[in-house]
Amino acid sequence: MSNENKTRIVLFISQKGGAGKTVNIVNLATVSYYEGTKGIAILDCDTQKSALKWSDTFRTDKLRKIEAFFPMVVGPSNDGSIQDTIDYLAEYSNEIWVDTAGYIGDDATNAKRILEEVIPLADLIVIPCKASRSDVCSTVDTIRFVEDILSVNGKSDTPRCILGSDIRGNDKGYGYFLKLFSSDEQFKEYSAQWKMIKSYIPSAAQFVRNVDIGGTAFFPTRVKSVITASIGAYQEMMALLGIKNRNQSEAEIIEGLANLGKVRKKAMQETIEMHEDQEDQSE
Ligand SMILES: Nc1ncnc2c1ncn2[C@@H]1O[C@H](COP(=O)(O)OP(=O)(O)OP(=O)(O)O)[C@@H](O)[C@H]1O
Ligand SMILES: [Mg+2]
Repeated sequence: MSNENKTRIVLFISQKGGAGKTVNIVNLATVSYYEGTKGIAILDCDTQKSALKWSDTFRTDKLRKIEAFFPMVVGPSNDGSIQDTIDYLAEYSNEIWVDTAGYIGDDATNAKRILEEVIPLADLIVIPCKASRSDVCSTVDTIRFVEDILSVNGKSDTPRCILGSDIRGNDKGYGYFLKLFSSDEQFKEYSAQWKMIKSYIPSAAQFVRNVDIGGTAFFPTRVKSVITASIGAYQEMMALLGIKNRNQSEAEIIEGLANLGKVRKKAMQETIEMHEDQEDQSE
């Protein structure tokens, strides 16, 4: 099966809380939708269930009416393994975004067990990181944790990257972010394996407010700078998976946004079909 057809599992991890896992997942999954990906699921493995809360509680009725993208957000099943949940989702999803907890804990915690189970299943591992020294230190700790698990499972060739999150939307902000990593002695050992995603998601208060009420960078207010950066980030991430020719250009995506009525109808239709498929399978 070519990379284009296989279900992609994109895992977000950072042991530091508030690094931007959840907001970037909902945002990049939305970009993916507009890039033409059919069937997108968000699997929320965080015991705090932030992504599930985002989809079920934060979203206002008004937003539900205008938001074109209806991501399916689910939690892992209580009785099966995460692998079982992923296998089930993979039947009708081309892309699964996996959110995880912002802490690892010790051997006795569920958070650690979940990460040990899910890391070897990922096709792409993403650590979002903000531009501060303490965030970079914590990222290096997360890298070590991930590297150990990959190596024990013979998965050291899994593509992996660090995604700049909450960086001032100018070259200076990103330059500072890169400098923090290049001047970190501990990071040198890993820099060859971890790609820095240049197309960072810039800091934008409006974007955060959108996510806060259950939207994305796209709704209810469009944050053009975030949309442009998100498209770049998404495409760089797909390139790491060997997927180079996405079918939409940035201009087409933006044009698609302008054509909301049609897109919304299509999204609703796809969601209805997905639910029908699910019901058929559970019968
Ligand atoms: N690109 C961004 N621009 C501005 N602020 C951001 C950005 N990304 C994250 N933030 C801020 O960081 C906060 C935490 O983000 P988020 O909840 O996604 O982190 P998280 O890694 O999922 O946290 P947790 O580990 O607690 O689940 C957001 O409420 C937001 O204020
Ligand atoms: Mg979160």
